[in-house]
Amino acid sequence: MIIARSAQELRNALDSKTGSVGFVPTMGALHIGHRTLIDAARRENDTVVVSIFVNPTQFLPGEDLSKYPRREEADFKICELSGVDVLFYPDVSTMYGRDEVRITAPDVRGYILEGASRPGHFDGVLTVVMKLFNLVRPTRAYFGKKDAQQLSLITQMVGNFFMDLTIVPMDTVRENDGLALSSRNVYLNPSERTEALKLSASLKRATKLVMQGTLESDAIKAQMLEILEPLEVEYVAIVNRAFESIGRVEIGNTIVLVAARVGSTRLIDNVWM
Ligand code: PAF
Repeated sequence: MIIARSAQELRNALDSKTGSVGFVPTMGALHIGHRTLIDAARRENDTVVVSIFVNPTQFLPGEDLSKYPRREEADFKICELSGVDVLFYPDVSTMYGRDEVRITAPDVRGYILEGASRPGHFDGVLTVVMKLFNLVRPTRAYFGKKDAQQLSLITQMVGNFFMDLTIVPMDTVRENDGLALSSRNVYLNPSERTEALKLSASLKRATKLVMQGTLESDAIKAQMLEILEPLEVEYVAIVNRAFESIGRVEIGNTIVLVAARVGSTRLIDNVWM
């Protein structure tokens, strides 16, 4: 595995490769969810590139940038064992200069739900992902459905800017008890971890209701909120794949989302139906 720390090192590593390039952008603290993305990239491409970069522009002031988990040695090992060909591991000065051109998220879809809770977050995500795509020039890029709004906005950016790559969405990976894997789960103490199960439990309830024929969004959201008690819920939302709020579930075109704080940790989860 080649570790490239600069744009030039990355280009040198990739210029000798032929065929398709599968790309998994990450912020490190890799877990099984990332492994699933890397494994898919490995199966479907000639070359696999993973980036690890804790992107400062997607953190709001007061968010967990400085304490975001960093596990360089373990992450490098995971990449190596997963058959990654090139690990891109830039520092902030490689990725950003001063007074730069930036991508801004769309006015509506970029500023609802996660974008309302974290205004400007998606500007940072889209800017760094654009830079990473231009550096890696992937054939396919792999993203988890857990960050559903991020996935949707990145897919939209690729379309809006006529970029020549395919975005591959991958299912959320869960612990046996339902907790969606997230790098932020390490912040949870044992009792918070138990409380965090309310997120996936509320989504399970939503799925059950839909299977039983309850399609009205308000009825589903009310039952989800009951399960989420007493967590500090930021939102429970039912949207279509274009992230428009819908009054009734449309099977095959619906995402049910939840964001809540467990202690001081902000968690998100969703189910696609
Ligand atoms: O999902 C993430 O880990 C990040 O938002 C991403 C896509 C790597 C951009 O920094």
